[in-house]
Amino acid sequence: MSALEIKHLFGLRGVSKSDISTILDTASEFRQVLERPVKKVPSLRGLTVVNLFFENSTRTRTSFELAEKRLSADTVNFSSSASSVKKGESLLDTLQNIEAMKIDLVVVRHQGTGVPRFLAKNSKAIIVNAGDGANEHPTQALLDMLTIQQHLGSLKNKRVTIIGDIRHSRVARSNLWGLTTMGAKVTLCSPSTLTPRNTQFFEGAFWETNLRKAVTDADVVMSLRLQKERMEDSLLPSMREYRNYFGITGELLEHANPSALIMHPGPINRGVELDSEMADSKHSVILEQVTNGVAVRMAVLFLLSGGRHG
Ligand code: CP
Repeated sequence: MSALEIKHLFGLRGVSKSDISTILDTASEFRQVLERPVKKVPSLRGLTVVNLFFENSTRTRTSFELAEKRLSADTVNFSSSASSVKKGESLLDTLQNIEAMKIDLVVVRHQGTGVPRFLAKNSKAIIVNAGDGANEHPTQALLDMLTIQQHLGSLKNKRVTIIGDIRHSRVARSNLWGLTTMGAKVTLCSPSTLTPRNTQFFEGAFWETNLRKAVTDADVVMSLRLQKERMEDSLLPSMREYRNYFGITGELLEHANPSALIMHPGPINRGVELDSEMADSKHSVILEQVTNGVAVRMAVLFLLSGGRHG
């Protein structure tokens, strides 16, 4: 049924260049729809999408919900805090009960790595990963790639530096797989306590511990949120120390390409990961990332449910 090689979107690791290009091209078209006075198309009329969120979210959840409404789908929101999960219901029972209501697509965010694959094995619905633990957040990376492409024309040979809590970051993983598949050069830079133990898993990445060297000549400087909720121990001496060594400042940006883009998946800790002046500067495309998120999610839902591009 899917118009892509993939049947579900679990992550970007192993997804082909052709599928990523199709998603980005389709998202560019939906981006134009979002500029129209009537921002709605009938592409998913008659289909029902459940947004199954077991973790907090502002951007991703709102963005998926808007994308579904823009495509004229029927949507249902599920949040674990207001559900029978609180009464001890298992994930599988929750899924089977929701599926019994005849749904077509499930968008899932869960703290457990691999939950989207587990749901796909136990359901007939099309599954879209909205973030699984520290594993992947594919639609975030796709919206990041769309934003870079819009500004820099192409992803091939672009130098993207991703800075911060790489160890716990699903955004870093999905961006690494997606960007390298599209020909970009990705440098990862993190404090030693926030560097993953298995760096060999991150094939294709360049690692750099010196922040200044990491951003030198970068076309994109992407700062990550500190994932405090995933830190088992105290991995940083203080937020001030982190800002001093790994925060994005005006002085640091002078080493990057003069037209470098500043990106952040949100939510931002201003004055820690990113100085406020940087978040609001002419280099920042952070709010464009959010706008592109709706178009990318429209494209993913549309293509996975059989819609053809072009
Ligand atoms: N970027 C992102 O995933 O943000 P939320 O946690 O608000 O969804």
